[in-house]
Amino acid sequence: MEKRPVILVVMDGIGLSDKTLGNAVKMAYKPTLDMLWETCPHTELRAHGLAVGLPTDGDMGNSEVGHNAIGCGQIYSQGAKLVNENIESGELFQSKTWKELVEGAKDGHAMHFIGLLSDGNVHSHIKHLEALIKEAKAEGVKKVRVHILLDGRDVPETSALTYVDEIENFMNGLNDADFDARIASGGGRMQITMDRYEANWPMVEEGWNIHVHGKGRQFANATEAIETYRNETGVVDQDLPGFVIAENGQPVGLIEDGDSVILFNFRGDRAQEICRAFDEDEEFDKFDRGNKPDVNFAGMLQYDADLNIPKRYLTEPPKIKYTLTEQLVKEGINEYAISETQKFGHVTYFWNGNRSEKFSEDLETYVQVDSDVIPFEQRPWMKSAEITDKLIEAIESGKYQFLRTNYPNGDMVGHTGNLEATIIGVEAVDLALGRILKAVEKVNGILLVTADHGNADEMYDKPKEGEKVHKAKTSHTLNKVPFIVYGADVKLKHDDDMGLSDIAATVCQLLDVKPNENWRPSIIEEMK
Ligand code: 3PG
Ligand code: CO
Repeated sequence: MEKRPVILVVMDGIGLSDKTLGNAVKMAYKPTLDMLWETCPHTELRAHGLAVGLPTDGDMGNSEVGHNAIGCGQIYSQGAKLVNENIESGELFQSKTWKELVEGAKDGHAMHFIGLLSDGNVHSHIKHLEALIKEAKAEGVKKVRVHILLDGRDVPETSALTYVDEIENFMNGLNDADFDARIASGGGRMQITMDRYEANWPMVEEGWNIHVHGKGRQFANATEAIETYRNETGVVDQDLPGFVIAENGQPVGLIEDGDSVILFNFRGDRAQEICRAFDEDEEFDKFDRGNKPDVNFAGMLQYDADLNIPKRYLTEPPKIKYTLTEQLVKEGINEYAISETQKFGHVTYFWNGNRSEKFSEDLETYVQVDSDVIPFEQRPWMKSAEITDKLIEAIESGKYQFLRTNYPNGDMVGHTGNLEATIIGVEAVDLALGRILKAVEKVNGILLVTADHGNADEMYDKPKEGEKVHKAKTSHTLNKVPFIVYGADVKLKHDDDMGLSDIAATVCQLLDVKPNENWRPSIIEEMK
């Protein structure tokens, strides 16, 4: 049989929904995608909850777990689940790292927690934070300071005060003559600290200065900071500027020599840079850390096992084995992966089971196109044209048998909550698909089109009683995603339990190589 190249396109955040209202995918002019859906074998895949290793089917999918599942052909318990179990069983508190951090935080030192304050369960969960604070008190820590990153991206866009109230009530319930816990600093997750893939280090620098050195605009409490910024700027939670809580001009929670610091996020992409600022030795050159305090630092998880980031952590990350890349490398298949900065790690690091190292330098080519550092609703096409130029070149070179890409538009623009811009984002992806199709035809290849989770498919939040105006929805959805095969005469399955982890075996079947025996089965019922 003739070996034909397979090209896989992940349309990030483009899920399936029958509803038209607020559905940027339906509203977009997308002749190529419509043609593919109407004329090619297609099916629907689960991309959330248990199908991608999350604790429950109420958990929306996200790009980390989605790319993990596509890239490894299996369903692994993910960070959210592992941390839950680790806390519930009490094992986390038996770990050497926890014990050391608790011991270090006694005798006049503080225990600091930095992380995303919400129940989004994508990067973190407020219940994990509460469990850690409670146990810290039980084990004799006297001073806790919490540095909060405001979400509004995995949860409703202006919900920050709900979580601030919850954590403050929780801490007030614990506070007494011997224990003092409070919020010390914070800011919107897209403004400070939580950059990813080195797209914008100045964001991390600003977070560092706010959390560590207390350098930022001062407020009496977090509620005052959030309300003031909302009135002054009108921006939503994820974009709120940074703030420092102070009393008589003095920040209440500077991070100082001897303190313990825990980053309570479990997901790696947006955790790594701030980790490196705390954890890396003298060589750190991303920004000037000023007088860097000598602290005991740990992450909720180890975010990158290859690079050892961070060195100390509270939960073992999922050890993802038998990835698609590993299998293809064994078979001598030449692979090409490309995306822009915002999702580059998704098609490489997450795809390969959270590995930053390649399996084979010879067989794997990774290309990153630099993302713009601007709000994406202002450039909803993002770098789709540049990615496509390069991908087409790679397809036509004839050098690669398996090529993959991620177009971030449906997701990154979807997260802004701007419907008009998101429609344009989806259209930009469609334009790219049209161009790719021609290149695929030229080389007699097979094109697979799918998504890692929904987002653009629901741009309005469910209206609450009495609400007349639609509120923007910035988070992902629970919807299924498309899986389309172009250029191969196949019959696809239509089982309700198929998910993203069924793609790996499908790719192998189309490449005519053996799938790994540990994987979920292929989506193809019959090759004609
Ligand atoms: C983010 O980090 O931007 C969101 O929390 C999740 O988005 P992603 O899973 O699509 O990257
Ligand atoms: Co997203």
